[in-house]
Amino acid sequence: MVKVLITGGAGFIGSHLSKNFIEKGHDVAIVDMLHPYYSINRKKQQLAHVRQAGSFRFYEVNLLDEVKTKEIFEVEQPEVVIHLAAIPGVMQSLEKPLEYVDYDVKATINTLKAAGEVGVKRFMFASSSSVYGDHHEKAMKEEMANGKVISPYAAAKYSAEAFCHAYQSIFGYSLTILRFFTVYGPWGRPDMAIGNFIQSAIHHEPITIYGQHTARDYTYIDDIVRGIEAAMWHNHQNETFNLGSSAPVTIEQLTTIIQKHFPHLKIEREVSRIGDVRNTWADLTKAQQLLSYNPSVTIEDGIARTVEWAKGYEAP
Ligand SMILES: NC(=O)c1ccc[n+]([C@@H]2O[C@H](COP(=O)([O-])OP(=O)(O)OC[C@H]3O[C@@H](n4cnc5c(N)ncnc54)[C@H](O)[C@@H]3O)[C@@H](O)[C@H]2O)c1
Repeated sequence: MVKVLITGGAGFIGSHLSKNFIEKGHDVAIVDMLHPYYSINRKKQQLAHVRQAGSFRFYEVNLLDEVKTKEIFEVEQPEVVIHLAAIPGVMQSLEKPLEYVDYDVKATINTLKAAGEVGVKRFMFASSSSVYGDHHEKAMKEEMANGKVISPYAAAKYSAEAFCHAYQSIFGYSLTILRFFTVYGPWGRPDMAIGNFIQSAIHHEPITIYGQHTARDYTYIDDIVRGIEAAMWHNHQNETFNLGSSAPVTIEQLTTIIQKHFPHLKIEREVSRIGDVRNTWADLTKAQQLLSYNPSVTIEDGIARTVEWAKGYEAP
C-alpha cells in the first residue's frame, strides 16, 4: 500500500488513476481546485466516479496558494506525489499564455517545494508529447526534446520539466517525468478531438477538422494508468518516459473509425491551426525496456469503449 497524493485527481486522467489506485488498496488523497477550464459539474461527476471505488481525502485547493499547499503536504505526509494538475489545451494557451505560467509552472513549483520539504520519496510529473515540437514522420525518443516548442502550453510543460529537475537536485527525491500522448477514453476531456467528435455525433451536430493528414498517437486511458503505475514501482532516481501507443492515426482514419459508429456524421473542414503540431508519435523503447510498458488497446477497440460510455453519459 502506497500513501499517494494525486493533484488534478478530479480531472480526466487523475480520476481514472485515483479510482484504480483506491481499488488496488493504496491510500489516496486528491488535491484539485475544480478549475473551470471545462465544466465544474463534470469534474464533480468524475470525483463521484472515483468515490465508487472507496474513500479518499479531497482538498479543493488551488496549488498556486503556497501556504495551503504546504499545509496539505504537512497533514498528508505522502510517500509519492503524482502531479497531474494543470490547465491543458494548446488553443487556450495562445489566448491566455500567462495563465499557463501560473497553473502549469508556478503551481508545479509550489508542489515540488512542498513535496521536498516534507520528505516525499518520489515525485511524478505529467508532461506532454507537445514538448517535442513540430516533428514529422518519425517516432520521438525521450532525448529528442530540445525546447523548440510551438505553443505556450508546450513551453509551460517544458519549463515545468526543468523545475522538476532543479527540485530533484535540491531535495534528492526520485523524479519521474511522464510524457503522455493524446489520451482518450470514457470521461475523456470534452475539449479534445475524440470526446468532442463523439459528443457532437450523438447530438447529430457536424464536427470540424483542422488541416489534412495530421496524425496523433492516441493512447487509451487504461494504458496510461498502467504506465503510471509501472513507473511508480520502478526503481530510478531521475527518468523521463514516453507513455503513448506508438501507432499514429491520421485525422482521416480517426473520423472513418468514428463514422462506423455514426454513419451519418457530417464533417466540416478548416485550415490547420497555429500551435497545433502536425504529427505525434512516441518511441516507446525506453518504457518497454524499463517499465515493461506495452499499450494493448487498439484505436478501434478504444473508440468502441468510449462510444459506449458516451451513449450512456449523454443519454437524457
Ligand atoms: N489528456 C491528455 O491527452 C494529456 C496529454 C499530455 C499531457 N497531459 C497532462 O496530464 C495532466 C492531466 O490532464 P487531463 O487531461 O486529465 O486534464 P484535466 O483538465 O481533466 O485535469 C487537470 C485537473 O487539474 C486541476 N487543476 C488545474 N490547475 C490546478 C491548480 N492550480 N490547483 C489544483 N488543481 C488544479 C483541474 O481542476 C483539473 O481537474 C495535465 O497535466 C495535462 O497537461 C494530458
